[in-house]
Amino acid sequence: MNRSDLNGRIRRAISWSLLAPGLMWPTMNATSNAQVSVQRSREERFVDSVLARLTLEEKLGQLNQVSGLGNPTGPGGSPASYEQIRRGQIGSFLNVVGADTTRKIQRIAVEESRAHIPLLFALDVIHGYRTTFPVPLGEAASWNPAAAERSARVAATEASANGLHWTFAPMVDIARDPRWGRIVEGAGEDPYLGGSFAAARVRGFQGNSLRSIDAIAATAKHFAGYGAAEGGRDYDIADVPERTMREVYLPPFHAAVCAGVATLMASFNEIAGVPAHANRHLTSEILRGEWKFDGMVVSDWTGVAELLQHGVGGDRAAVGKLALEAGVDMDMVSEIYGKDLPALVRSGRLSQAAVDAAVRRVLRLKYRLGLFDNPYRSWDAARERAMTLTRDNRAAAREVARQTMVLLKNDRGTLPLRKELGTIAVIGSLANDTVATLGNWVGMGRKEDGMSVLDGIKRAVSQQTTVLYAKGASPVSDDTSAIAEAVSVARRAQAVVLVIGEIPDMSAEAASRASIELPGAQLILAQAVQATGVPTVVVLMNGRPLAIQWLHDNVPAILETWFAGIEAGPATADVLFGDYNPGGKLPVTFPRATGQVPIYYAHKNTGRPPQRENKYSSKYIDIPWTPLYPFGHGLSYTTFTISTPRLDKTTLRSSDSLRVEVDVTNSGTVAGDEVVQLYVRDDVASLTRPVKQLRGFQRMTLGPGQSSTVRFVLSNQDLAFYDASMRRVVEPGRFTVFVGSSSDVVKEARFELTTPSARAVPVPERCVAMK
Ligand code: NOJ
Repeated sequence: MNRSDLNGRIRRAISWSLLAPGLMWPTMNATSNAQVSVQRSREERFVDSVLARLTLEEKLGQLNQVSGLGNPTGPGGSPASYEQIRRGQIGSFLNVVGADTTRKIQRIAVEESRAHIPLLFALDVIHGYRTTFPVPLGEAASWNPAAAERSARVAATEASANGLHWTFAPMVDIARDPRWGRIVEGAGEDPYLGGSFAAARVRGFQGNSLRSIDAIAATAKHFAGYGAAEGGRDYDIADVPERTMREVYLPPFHAAVCAGVATLMASFNEIAGVPAHANRHLTSEILRGEWKFDGMVVSDWTGVAELLQHGVGGDRAAVGKLALEAGVDMDMVSEIYGKDLPALVRSGRLSQAAVDAAVRRVLRLKYRLGLFDNPYRSWDAARERAMTLTRDNRAAAREVARQTMVLLKNDRGTLPLRKELGTIAVIGSLANDTVATLGNWVGMGRKEDGMSVLDGIKRAVSQQTTVLYAKGASPVSDDTSAIAEAVSVARRAQAVVLVIGEIPDMSAEAASRASIELPGAQLILAQAVQATGVPTVVVLMNGRPLAIQWLHDNVPAILETWFAGIEAGPATADVLFGDYNPGGKLPVTFPRATGQVPIYYAHKNTGRPPQRENKYSSKYIDIPWTPLYPFGHGLSYTTFTISTPRLDKTTLRSSDSLRVEVDVTNSGTVAGDEVVQLYVRDDVASLTRPVKQLRGFQRMTLGPGQSSTVRFVLSNQDLAFYDASMRRVVEPGRFTVFVGSSSDVVKEARFELTTPSARAVPVPERCVAMK
């Protein structure tokens, strides 16, 4: 059926009296402010006209999201029926995919329900739909937001062709506790880096216009503080003070809103006694009030019903009212809004206006996606095949994967390996595993699409090279019986590639670990292999920082590859053999031991900062206080020098901007990437401030001997903080700027900030261009 036939059918199917005249095909690609406001008022008139025709049950149906049972992503949930769609009791599905399937279900909503309102189809497209890219923590290690944007764009292109409108990504939760398994789904510990990646992913998923058939609506989740789960236990409480919330956990959400994110998802945790699903302060006051977000907020899976377990509402109707009034518009899977709220509205205990406000936001999203115009968005099986797992998408996955790898250690040039070595031993169960390389939350990714590290190595080496393989040990078992064989295989080789770490199910949702040491018998395997004396390279595969002090002390080279996706094998081989020079940097601190957690670079000085020779200082008596690898760390096969920062002024008025420049030189013999990082510190303030805060970064490629000048511009937005009365201000005084190649390899310069009357100056939060 061509597009005009299709539109004709929809026009006929939709009751014309439903639609205000002239509102059916508004133009959404104009850009001027005047045009935007015309569009907005058209949009509102259209939404109001649809809303006015709905019964109370149909309205609440729009707020009801149910899961297709094929692929549940949480506990509970009851099967949905076509009859419910006909009766207008469902507004959205999650976990239903495939162009033919969603088209068939959509047709029931559009043609057979009284109100003819199209459904929204959603899925967790986290790091790829079918072409699986590296896990988000890995992508953040690229320190190249453009790479994450590219990966999200590919994911959106595939997902939209496969019948989807909406993804529950990006997860923008800041995580400073690597025990928390969901650290793998975000951009790590830093709000600035996290904000850059949040914005990039939103741009990637949503493209230039939500109405494009290859765009999907993004979701910034989980709002908010989820990453601060006590003890690193998933779903646990987050005891986060307001200042920390605003300075650490909220900035990536704000960046996502500034980038135009269509939806947010509430988080499972409570904050200071108020569950996020019932949190008016967060959702209504900050998100909608301060940030002017006019999009939709969805609950997390059964998040509304879980308010009962939190103990803040006596029955289903009460918790439904709490969530709706707090600002949670769509109820994922609890089915409380649809089933329990009608009586509450009829009895006058819940206002019709609160329901209408939520429905309006759902209809707005459907309108913005162009669904009233084109509910099927060109879904057909042929297009689906043509757009999915294409050669270009695979090439993008390989390119992004190479950029995510972090060379943690490389003594005496152990890496890169020579492709001409006579025999290479590849050891470890993860080396031969294409499920592991995909990571968690794989969308429709399939293990048969991927290539293992073992196969990647076999494909890369010279024809004369023999590649031997032994399992040795695995992350999921303490069985040491295969280690002897691995040792004998190692002895026959000139080099060992030891692939160790975690399986994907050891991170992501409901996968917190009390210990972040190497699981299973892998450390025993590493010790046995290292004892052979054969040069050993460790390839790590994991979804969180691991405490690998022994490896660091004993193995000459360690490469962090995270879970690198379907192209993990070729991309890892590219790096191991020097076809690609690694340039990734850690987006999160690696501790020496689990007991150091939480550990992050932007900590406070305290009154007794750590000093080796001073017993009464803030440290441990059994291990150093320093991390094993700091935030921002990552080596290269070449070396770089970065000059001392030059400032364009040493006295700065609060309304000025400060230019900072450094010269970067590739002082080695091969081309490579450096990530130049800029941090600031407010040396003396009315409140304690972190010892350093990231405020700029730039990944760049330089040939051997090549130099370049990197320029950063700082404004008062970069220097502001929340004072004792929670006003966002800059204060006059001394600041230090640090620039370098990691959070603890930096050179510094100082400047003085002045303000009128030498008082603090308010700096309202505003959208700043993120990379
Ligand atoms: C629960 C998870 O917390 C959330 O991130 C996800 O989007 C939903 N389940 C839907 O699968």
